[in-house]
Amino acid sequence: MFVIKTNSPDETYTFGENVAKLLKSGDILCLAGDLGAGKTLLSQGIAAGLKVTEGVSSPTFTVLNVYEGVAGSGQELSIYHFDLYRLEHPAELADIGFDHYLGAGGIAIIEWPDKFPEFLPTERLWLTMKTGECPSERILCLTAEGTRYVELCEELKQVADSCY
Ligand SMILES: Nc1ncnc2c1ncn2[C@@H]1O[C@H](COP(=O)(O)OP(=O)(O)OP(=O)(O)O)[C@@H](O)[C@H]1O
Ligand SMILES: [Mg+2]
Repeated sequence: MFVIKTNSPDETYTFGENVAKLLKSGDILCLAGDLGAGKTLLSQGIAAGLKVTEGVSSPTFTVLNVYEGVAGSGQELSIYHFDLYRLEHPAELADIGFDHYLGAGGIAIIEWPDKFPEFLPTERLWLTMKTGECPSERILCLTAEGTRYVELCEELKQVADSCY
């Protein structure tokens, strides 16, 4: 596990761009944190880092937005940006094809993953955001589940050390 702090929306966005450079096909990122914690802003930074050109908005009402992007390796892939906030029953996950998209070889970003903890893949990068001491500060706590994500977390630590 490791923790990084950002001092402004811009820093969170830039951290997202840095995360994106390390992502690969099949990666799953769970973004937890209260309303307004910065999950969508971080997702926008990640999408920008994956060279997504269309506008990335909050999928709160649509539950899922799909974007086309390019990974650091140059591979073209889809980004599945979920927001589970409005879902109430696990059956709704099946309705939106949650498992299908997670196994489709793109990159999945899941806001409000804690709504359905038992229906998430067990291997994932889990990131929790909270507001720090001042209103523009955010504490990002990253935890890896599974070998791929332990490796990703190590790489991210190095990026974070060199940026902040
Ligand atoms: N350091 C920071 N990092 C991220 N956002 C910040 C920071 N400081 C202030 N903010 C503000 O916090 C808000 C974060 O909004 P955002 O929509 O990303 O939150 P969210 O976690 O996706 O919320 P929701 O659960 O409603 O989807 C933005 O208005 C942003 O400008
Ligand atoms: Mg959001």
